[in-house]
Amino acid sequence: MAHDEVVRRYSELAREALAGKVVVDCEAGEFERGCFGAAGYGDTTGLPEGALRAGLGCGDPVAVAGLRAGETVLDLGSGGGIDVLLSARRVGPHGKVYGLDASPDMLDLARANAAQAGAANVEFLHGAIEAVPLPGHAVDAVVSNCVINLSDDKAAALAEAFRVLRPGGRFAVSDVVTDGDPDPVRRAAAERRVGCVAGALTVEEYRDLLRRAGFAGIAIRLTADHGDGVHSAIVQAVKPAIGPGMEIRPMREQDAAQVLEIYQAGLDTGNASFETAAPSWEAFDRGRLPHPRYVAVDTGSGEVLGWVAASPVSSRCVYAGVVEHSLYVHPGCQAHGIGRALLTAFIAASEDAGIWTIQGGIFPENTASLALHRKLGFRVVGTRERIGRHHGVWRDVVLMERRSPAVGG
Ligand SMILES: C[S@@+](CC[C@H](N)C(=O)[O-])C[C@H]1O[C@@H](n2cnc3c(N)ncnc32)[C@H](O)[C@@H]1O
Repeated sequence: MAHDEVVRRYSELAREALAGKVVVDCEAGEFERGCFGAAGYGDTTGLPEGALRAGLGCGDPVAVAGLRAGETVLDLGSGGGIDVLLSARRVGPHGKVYGLDASPDMLDLARANAAQAGAANVEFLHGAIEAVPLPGHAVDAVVSNCVINLSDDKAAALAEAFRVLRPGGRFAVSDVVTDGDPDPVRRAAAERRVGCVAGALTVEEYRDLLRRAGFAGIAIRLTADHGDGVHSAIVQAVKPAIGPGMEIRPMREQDAAQVLEIYQAGLDTGNASFETAAPSWEAFDRGRLPHPRYVAVDTGSGEVLGWVAASPVSSRCVYAGVVEHSLYVHPGCQAHGIGRALLTAFIAASEDAGIWTIQGGIFPENTASLALHRKLGFRVVGTRERIGRHHGVWRDVVLMERRSPAVGG
């Protein structure tokens, strides 16, 4: 559905709610089953009647957001403000909760509900979830309830959620998803019963968009079956963690020159690889999986500080989940935890992508890399003695691998 149409429809519902009506965004049967609205929550004691009446969600995202006192939260598409008020309780007076909505009528309703609740730690912003009016790294958690399915640019909405989250920040969302059945009859039936199914993603599409935005630790749990392949779901993911002033994000083509420069600087140490010259970007890109591929950047200057990427070890399908990774940190930025943060993010994202074994060959002289890999769950498979010649010298390589405890048998 087009953005303006969505805003018009929810503005109308907001005006009805302001007039004291219970608003419903799905067929009565679904509403009565408690799948939608305030009935989907665990504990709503103490919330104003107006906020409960206006609840148009499809689950309880705040319950899984792990909110702590003092944290800052953003609710995408905050509607009548129910999740903002629930979050505000959890983060307490030293925390802050932003509610963002494109409908001015919904903002009026939410502000009235917040005033009635006496919530002083909340602020409602007018804007679109595809262009969030907050600076980067502004919040510890992004929550949302039955909104992302409405967006006509979901990739932009998820990229914005990633941008505004601090490294290590959580994405905890309730949404409507489909099982991808293309049968138009089932789909039409679902659309009649459950509002906004038309734009809902399948679970796989959701995972893919979250991955592309840079998220790791992705979990999508179906929470209610609305029939005809439509479900409510809790969608959770994490923005990779790294130290202050830095960020881990997906590698982009614009990073090519800096990525290759760091690659070359690593090769020049003589302890990174048998290669002596970094490849062209085309060769680099062609030889590596598009995902996971991360860079660590300085958020002030935008400078790339390190990168991690992987190549498949074989084209045989039996090895589909086995990759060989490369991890390079700018020689001037060692010992800031960048390698550890990149490798941690890479492991989590590779498990999301169904990769069960990550392997790497490391020169025995590169003791820092061997120690880092051991710390993150890699084991030494063995030493391949005098396996190749580097600048005319026969050298050993230690083969390390990490077998995922979560993926595969
Ligand atoms: C289904 S209601 C959910 C409201 C609220 N989250 C709840 O659980 O009650 C969808 C809300 O998202 C808002 N919305 C829809 N698309 C939006 C967008 N692209 N940007 C910002 N807000 C949007 C609507 O105005 C509406 O308030």
